[in-house]
Amino acid sequence: MSEGDLEQELAAIEVDAHIARMVQNGKVKMPPFPSVLARVQAALAKGAGAPEVARLVGVDPALSAMLLRLVNSVMFVPVTGPIVSLDRAVQRLGVKEVTRVCMSGPLGESARAAGPLQDHRRACWSDALASAFIAAALATEHAVSPDEAYVAGLLHDFGKILALSCMEDAIAATPHLLLAGVDWMALADQHHVGLGWLMADLWGLPPPLPDVIQQHHDFPAKSPLIEVVQICDAFLTLMNRGNVEVKDVEKIPGIKSAGQVARLMKLVSMLPDVLASFGVTRPKAA
Ligand SMILES: [Fe+2]
Ligand SMILES: [Fe+2]
Repeated sequence: MSEGDLEQELAAIEVDAHIARMVQNGKVKMPPFPSVLARVQAALAKGAGAPEVARLVGVDPALSAMLLRLVNSVMFVPVTGPIVSLDRAVQRLGVKEVTRVCMSGPLGESARAAGPLQDHRRACWSDALASAFIAAALATEHAVSPDEAYVAGLLHDFGKILALSCMEDAIAATPHLLLAGVDWMALADQHHVGLGWLMADLWGLPPPLPDVIQQHHDFPAKSPLIEVVQICDAFLTLMNRGNVEVKDVEKIPGIKSAGQVARLMKLVSMLPDVLASFGVTRPKAA
């Protein structure tokens, strides 16, 4: 083993131990459950309609801007020209889509914050958002609700972002770690299921989401929702490599029909514009 390899391995062990201590001492920085989402969900439970939802979202300028960008993106193509009012945006998108944005928007803020590993965190967030839209597009043919699939896609790998922020905490304590050549994404992969589970627990995520977070790397899939997430992962791997071809998508285990393949292929061209609504640029494929 070369000196560089040894240094890298020791640094990885040090980071592992730091993460374990953070978990043990309850120091993992969890993003708060999005407050606008909680308010919108409470209002919807009382029978609120689109105007009330628009009013609640309107108190958050960043979220309002996201909704307006999304409603004017290629996915929703306004037929009557650009939509510039929040009321009309909520009507056009529907309260379900708005609820999804209320979850994604605030979570993205913590994922996109500045830090030494911000590029990795941002790439994970871009994958999370892409997964959410891909999972929702797959859902119906697997007898899964698109809303549930969206949240499962969004959150199943959120543990990677938590792992990366724990690593940034380790770097803040021991700056030389940054120079040791650690494979940060490989380490994030190792920790993401455990940290995702911790978030599910602290947020009190309802079933079946904790199972999705814990079991999405177990094959064969233990539920249709987990199968959707696994197809989503396989498709995203193709997308991140670039040059997605129909013959490769058809080979993804669990794909149900030619129609489903066609929907996924359509998403390849739409996703960059949709993600831009959330202020996310897809990293260029290697
Ligand atoms: Fe994962
Ligand atoms: Fe994933």
